[in-house]
This record gives sequence, structure tokens and C-alpha cells, in this order.
Amino acid sequence: MNEVITLRQYLQGQQRAGKAIETGLIDLICEVGVACKQIAAKIDRAALEGALGAAGSENVQGEEQKKLDVISNEVMFDHLKTTGLLSGMGSEEEDEPMAIPADQPRGPYLIMFDPLDGSSNIDVNISVGTIFSVVKNPRGSEPATEQDFLQPGNQQLAAGVVVYGPSTTFVLTTGHGVAVFVLDRSMGEFLLVRDGVKIPEDTAEFAINMSNRRFWEEPVRRYIDDCLAGEEGPLGKRYNMRWVASMVAEVYRILTRGGIFMYPIDERTRAKGGRLRLMYEGNPVAFIVEQAGGLASTGYERIMDIQPTALHQRVPVILGSKNEVEKVVSYHQG
Ligand code: AHG
Ligand code: MN
Ligand code: MN
Repeated sequence: MNEVITLRQYLQGQQRAGKAIETGLIDLICEVGVACKQIAAKIDRAALEGALGAAGSENVQGEEQKKLDVISNEVMFDHLKTTGLLSGMGSEEEDEPMAIPADQPRGPYLIMFDPLDGSSNIDVNISVGTIFSVVKNPRGSEPATEQDFLQPGNQQLAAGVVVYGPSTTFVLTTGHGVAVFVLDRSMGEFLLVRDGVKIPEDTAEFAINMSNRRFWEEPVRRYIDDCLAGEEGPLGKRYNMRWVASMVAEVYRILTRGGIFMYPIDERTRAKGGRLRLMYEGNPVAFIVEQAGGLASTGYERIMDIQPTALHQRVPVILGSKNEVEKVVSYHQG
């Protein structure tokens, strides 16, 4: 019989093995897992319960919210507010950091999340996911202000991506490599399926929204044109392309078989600083990808070294197989 290791057992094992993981952090990660099990159940039943489609509102980024964006955000907040482990939460769907209610205990951690990534795919039954990032509150358990969240990605204590796909899959790092857990619905537990995940250093598979080509900067356009030139081109190999339009699914594919994912800066998004969000999209996936031996860059600098200035700050994202990301960075160096 296969040995069964739950998410909590895995983290406790890491702690016993001398990895610096606080017990409170283990509890917090497991509670995020509980919230994500609830979200998985809501997604599963959404079409049956009339929970697909638009919510009729916009978030702080001026993007249309789907009903499931709003529901997932509520599940995360309502579940995590009672843990006593947090002194604030930041969400893609909330303009301001969310305070822990006064009648609830507070704790030393801050969490930032994209409750549902890939919203455009919800109604069409394609994988979506939850992304989260945990840091310490620099002021202990005091109610957090926006300033307290604004730490570079290299300060993250934990980051995770939960993909709601053919199976519900929890990808986690606490800075000691990357592990993958799959939800066993009969047990209601996330069980370990992969540990020490390593992204192949080389790849011939890229993911980019090609319809934006005319808006890209010259280095990205040149790199993709060279990919498309195949064996006869300067890169000397035939490339394959994927675009799921859910970064969570692209990242999971890259963790499984390598690849490069790009949402670069372009003329449409230049004023905003990019398309994806630094604090709850770029940083957590960068932490996971780097812990799996890959790289995550803007094209000009390491994502996790950016000093953030706002909770909803945007960032260009180029991540995946190490040698391929280095190649794209070299195109940016002229
Ligand atoms: P969100 O649904 O949280 O707004 O994020 C969606 C992101 C990301 O997951 C994906 O890679 C990208 O937006 C899709 O962009 P296009 O609409 O350009 O395909
Ligand atoms: Mn997102
Ligand atoms: Mn989202």
C-alpha cells in the first residue's frame, strides 16, 4: 500500500527535520488548505447553483468580478479571520487591506491572495486557482497597515498555488523546495504526491498571449519571432506553444514538464506597470518557481527583489525553465 502523507504531516516532518518552519505557519497553511477545499466545492457545484457568470461589480483594478471571484474571496476571509494567526489580509478583490475583526484574536502573519486566478476561464470549465503569499507582520500582531505588507518577495515565509483542475492540487513552498499535494475527496485531505519538484532547465515550450504581439517591447517580440523561426532560426529548435489564460495552470505545467510563461510589459499596460499583480501573483509564483530551480524575472530584474510600493502594484512576469528565462533576459540586455 502507498504511504499516505497529509499536508500537515508533511510540514510537521519538515519541522522535525530541522527546517525553520514555525508551528503557527504550519497551522496557517493547513487553514488555507481548508478554505481552498471549500472553494473547490463551490467551483464544482457552481453551474448547479447558479454561481457562474458576472457578479455585476468591479474590483479595485477596474476588472469585472465574477460571482466566484467574490465567493472565493469571502471564503478565504471568513475562514482565515478566526484562526488567531493573522493580523491582516490583502486580496485582489479588496481595495484596502482587510482587518481582522475586533472580536477575533490576531497573530504575527500577513497573507495576500488572489482568491481566484484565471477568472475568464471559470464559465468555460477550464482550470482556475487560488494563489497566496505569507509574510511576517513587521509590527508583531498589531493591526496591519498597507505599509506592513510592502515587503519584497524574498521575505516570503510561504507561498502556494491551489489549482482547481481535473484534480484539486496544492503546490507549496516554505523555502525548502516545492511539494505538491492532491485533494483526496474521500478523505477530505491534501495528500503528498510530489516532493523536491525540479523544473527542467531547458525547454522548447512557451506560453504568451500572442494577440498582444503588436504591443510588446522589442526584446520580447524578437525572442518570440526567433522561437517561431524554429530549427532554421537563431535558437535552433522547434518550439511548441500553450496559452491557458490561467497563470496557475501554466505554472503547474511548467513545474511538471518545464516551459516559459510570459506576461511582459506592453504598450497597453505600460502606465499600470504590467498586467499581473506583484504581491499575490508575481511574488508567490516566483518563490515557487525559484524553489523548483527555475527563474522569475521582469526581463530587467528578479521579481522577488522588487521593493513594492503598493498592495495592488503590477509587474511584468517572465518565469520558468532557468536557461530559457536567462535567454529572454539576455534579449533585454541588448
Ligand atoms: P485574474 O483572473 O486573477 O484577473 O488573473 C488572470 C491573469 C492570469 O491568470 C492569466 O495568465 C492572464 O490574466 C490572462 O490574460 P489574458 O486575458 O491576456 O489571456
Ligand atoms: Mn489572477
Ligand atoms: Mn483573481
